[in-house]
Amino acid sequence: MREIGIGVIGTGFMGKAHAIAYSASASVFGTGLRPVLQIVCDLSPERASQRATDLGFSRYTDKWQDVVSDPAVDLISICTPNDTHAEIAIAALKAGKHVWCEKPMSTSLADSHAMLAAAQESNGKTIIGYNYTKNPVVTYARRLIEDGKIGRVSGFFCRYDVENEADESRPWSWRMSRNSSGTGANGDVLSHVISIGHFLTGSHITNVVGDINIVHEKRTNPDDGSEMLVDNDDMVSALVHFENGVKGHIGASRVTWGRKCGLRWEIHGTRGTISFDQERLNEIKLFTAEDDDASNGFRTILTGPYHPPYSAFLPNAGHSLGYMDVKICELHDLLNGIETGADVWPDFTAGLKIEQVMDAVDRSAQTGAWVKVDS
Ligand SMILES: NC(=O)c1ccc[n+]([C@@H]2O[C@H](COP(=O)([O-])OP(=O)(O)OC[C@H]3O[C@@H](n4cnc5c(N)ncnc54)[C@H](O)[C@@H]3O)[C@@H](O)[C@H]2O)c1
Repeated sequence: MREIGIGVIGTGFMGKAHAIAYSASASVFGTGLRPVLQIVCDLSPERASQRATDLGFSRYTDKWQDVVSDPAVDLISICTPNDTHAEIAIAALKAGKHVWCEKPMSTSLADSHAMLAAAQESNGKTIIGYNYTKNPVVTYARRLIEDGKIGRVSGFFCRYDVENEADESRPWSWRMSRNSSGTGANGDVLSHVISIGHFLTGSHITNVVGDINIVHEKRTNPDDGSEMLVDNDDMVSALVHFENGVKGHIGASRVTWGRKCGLRWEIHGTRGTISFDQERLNEIKLFTAEDDDASNGFRTILTGPYHPPYSAFLPNAGHSLGYMDVKICELHDLLNGIETGADVWPDFTAGLKIEQVMDAVDRSAQTGAWVKVDS
């Protein structure tokens, strides 16, 4: 097993998830590259130092540039707010590092294009954190689709609703600002929906008509209690056409009470249907038009060792993987790409395609007209 030096920038929800994945991946998979936690970065030396202790890094810094220039670092995780992704990713790629960047790719199409150009000029592997496509039961669904189990795919329908900002008394945050976050529910949650649509259909969205809504227009400044305006979408929805002829609708909301991780998708084919609910992430429901009408129905398929790479975690079916395990699967794809040279999905090329759909939905919402996705 060869070692690979790791730097993580940003140590909130995602920085911790990445660090856990790095710590666990060699134990889970037993082959390939063994991550070594070299240096961690956050905004203050106190926080960075504490997180280095908590997460097991050798060193810490409060300047992301130190991570990018560190000779012991081969792979950098970007787990900071969206408006920092482009600058850090471009610098990291120029310094010859591989990059695991959290979604969305950036806050503007121009930045995402620049990130892709930097990736194309480097030998670094890239991946964007669209983890929901890495769940073994979701990759199995894609295999069923490719094998023709539900016939020709005709429809993709997916919503991702969360209650993160449903409480109007929650204070303003960077996620509610176009400057620091880009779009709102669109970049934060619809981006995942688009990644799943692209992954399951093996195609991409080419035309959309979108709609957005800001449900809570004012929030309180957490620093001084003053009133702050929310200028990006709480809710977003769109009708979509894919290049391969699939049609459907997609939507997302960050203000839906009761939806803890309300990511649900359904894919319709000419001979069957598959459905999934992230709050029950170890199962899919499959209906095929094979059996007799009287006894036919959706059957529940529970994840097990026959759904790679489940068996790397557990020997027995039905014991259930969790969100962090899926993040480890995502990392494994990246490490495998770095080690073998294999393509990694979604890299910055695939990431840009997702950003282009988000942008088209946002533009269409201004006019109400169908919009062609840039390509
Ligand atoms: N893939 C997923 O399921 C998923 C889930 C949540 C968030 N995300 C994405 O991950 C990213 C981070 O989100 P989060 O929820 O972890 O946010 P967070 O607020 O929990 O953490 C962000 C961290 O970055 C630090 N930070 C901010 N600016 C920095 C800078 N310039 N240099 C170093 N550190 C800096 C903050 O102090 C904080 O510790 C976002 O892009 C978000 O969209 C992805």
